[in-house]
Amino acid sequence: MKTRTARAEDYSLIQALLIASELPVEDLPENAPIRFLIVEYPGAQFGGCIGLEVHGRDGLVRSLAVQSNLRAYGAGKTLVDAVQRLAATEGIERLWLLTTTASAFFLQAGYEIADRATAPELIRRSLQFASICPASAICMTRTLRPPSGDAA
Ligand SMILES: CC(C)(COP(=O)(O)OP(=O)(O)OC[C@H]1O[C@@H](n2cnc3c(N)ncnc32)[C@H](O)[C@@H]1OP(=O)(O)O)[C@@H](O)C(=O)NCCC(=O)NCCS
Repeated sequence: MKTRTARAEDYSLIQALLIASELPVEDLPENAPIRFLIVEYPGAQFGGCIGLEVHGRDGLVRSLAVQSNLRAYGAGKTLVDAVQRLAATEGIERLWLLTTTASAFFLQAGYEIADRATAPELIRRSLQFASICPASAICMTRTLRPPSGDAA
């Protein structure tokens, strides 16, 4: 399997998969400021997707889903690894996400549970944090590289 940046013609498949996976799509017009990656199998079979919103030095990981018949074969982890590489190339230092379904998956992928109130303001103002995801969703975070703060 391989990952690549989503193209305009991929968005109907992405949207259908997110709906089938009971994930939010209401803030997903094609021109939303969200970078999507997809995973493909031989023959260009669409396997799944993941989205990244860039909010300054922080990133919001969202819309991770794998086709139900292709789960548990590593595609989810492949997508998370790919979005982390994309985020790092965008200069993002920390990733955030909200999940009601996959906290165990993300713990295994190196994310830790965080108090939602500790997320930076730009992340808290994203639609996912501000209105779409329920208050009961678990907030998780992962540092990609140390902040380039002043040395003491
Ligand atoms: C969550 C999801 C993307 C995982 O995709 P996947 O392709 O099945 O995951 P992988 O095969 O890459 O799994 C990687 C590891 O995580 C584990 N894992 C997968 N799903 C898990 C889950 N729900 N809970 C705990 N561990 C999980 C796997 O066992 C595997 O462990 P291993 O490396 O020790 O074998 C997929 O189950 C899915 O699409 N779910 C519905 C949508 C959803 O809930 N998305 C999350 C929104 S935040």
